[in-house]
Amino acid sequence: MTDDSMADGPGTADTPSGETPAAGKAGTGGHPAGEPAPAELRQRALDALTTARARTAVLTDCVDDRDLTAQHSPLMSPLVWDLAHIGNQEEQWLLRTVGGRPALRPEIDSVYDAFEHPRAARPALPLLPPAEARLYAHEVRGRVLDILDRAAFEGGGPLTDSAFAFGMIAQHEQQHDETMLITHQLRKGPAALTAPAPPADGAGEKLPPEVLVPGGAFTMGTSAEPWALDNERPAHRREVPAFRLDTVPVTCGAYLAFIEDGGYRDPRWWAGEGFEQIRRHEIGAPLFWRQEGGQWLRRRFGVTEPVPLDEPVLHVSWYEADAYARWAGRRLPTEAEWEKAARHDPATGRSRRFPWGDGDPTPGRANLGQRHLRPAPAGSYREGASPLGIRQLIGDVWEWTASDFLPYPGFAAFPYREYSEVFFGSDHKVLRGGSFGVDEVACRGTFRNWDLPVRRQIFAGFRTARDAAPGEGGG
Ligand code: AVJ
Ligand code: FE
Repeated sequence: MTDDSMADGPGTADTPSGETPAAGKAGTGGHPAGEPAPAELRQRALDALTTARARTAVLTDCVDDRDLTAQHSPLMSPLVWDLAHIGNQEEQWLLRTVGGRPALRPEIDSVYDAFEHPRAARPALPLLPPAEARLYAHEVRGRVLDILDRAAFEGGGPLTDSAFAFGMIAQHEQQHDETMLITHQLRKGPAALTAPAPPADGAGEKLPPEVLVPGGAFTMGTSAEPWALDNERPAHRREVPAFRLDTVPVTCGAYLAFIEDGGYRDPRWWAGEGFEQIRRHEIGAPLFWRQEGGQWLRRRFGVTEPVPLDEPVLHVSWYEADAYARWAGRRLPTEAEWEKAARHDPATGRSRRFPWGDGDPTPGRANLGQRHLRPAPAGSYREGASPLGIRQLIGDVWEWTASDFLPYPGFAAFPYREYSEVFFGSDHKVLRGGSFGVDEVACRGTFRNWDLPVRRQIFAGFRTARDAAPGEGGG
């Protein structure tokens, strides 16, 4: 597609007006229709799969076999389950379905079916021991690289067009890598992982506390991003009235003021089951925090340290985020508000892939990919700011939104109902933006994550919003 076809106007069937063209790091290479050339797609798929496997190795080679098979929390699988499940999903989709090859180990499918066995029950399953699980994933991968070598990325249907299934499986592995990183955070004992501190460029700057996002329609979701998952599709117009959004995520220091003001003891701030939840479990601070002699400490990947006041708060449930917002006289942003803040370019009226534009994430733009094992101080990543100056929308911490996880108009489950469709409804809340533990292949302005509102072990924080005054910001 040319830039012209993206101008506001009727658009074409597959490029609805209002989205900028997908432009990954490989560029379009002059291939017709703006699609990357096959060689570039092959390289991109290979890079994504290879990056994911290297990270899986980091997460599973840094502990011994006892640690790999232990259950570190009833909320999580043993690490060795994730490892073989990664291989099994890859076998089912890339080897059997895309490659049309015979099954390698059909007898283990049911052991690694997430719907058959809840996480708490997985340690009792006949799991492949660590060495076998590694070998299994390795053998699947070898065959898959063969299939990738020969695959055509056009005219073969939605699974292979644009190398979608390869991108989907790379995202799946990276999602389980984040899950395993959460298991590492829950694990007792000395640190197994280390990483340098994130840069704090911009963190010292004086920023306005909130930004006015003018009202009006914008394009939400995508029909142009080749590796977008089913729940991100299709692109559609959404009316979003003017609102104000925090420039940076809520910090530990700001959250501490809520704690010290008795926020956890005042039922006025808590919605739904929230107050009952914190009372039953005697919750009075984010997960992994404790108070010792007047000082707040937190445990982070096996190290206990003072709570850093300037860092975005992590490990709060949706109920805690929502309660803080109400205490502050504010509210959580809706999912549409979050996406408009992250993608809408007021200069052109179009929706872009990321707050900074259409280019891929870089280490200077966002804290992603487990390069660091913590969020950067609030205000960091000046280079990743949105056109209105909002920072850290991508990376650092997942951000709870006010919204339930629901399908977009025109949603179609693809390629399997169990990825998104079975989770739609009011049980799950949407999180946006990705954390330091998310790889860029599984993070973009349209990416939707979801979880139960009680969950606290995930790398989740939030920012707050409020309605603009009538007549302010138009719309
Ligand atoms: C999208 C992160 C909620 O981990 O449950 C992994 C991703 N789906 N395997 C999850 C997923 C199937 C999913 N989340
Ligand atoms: Fe999975």
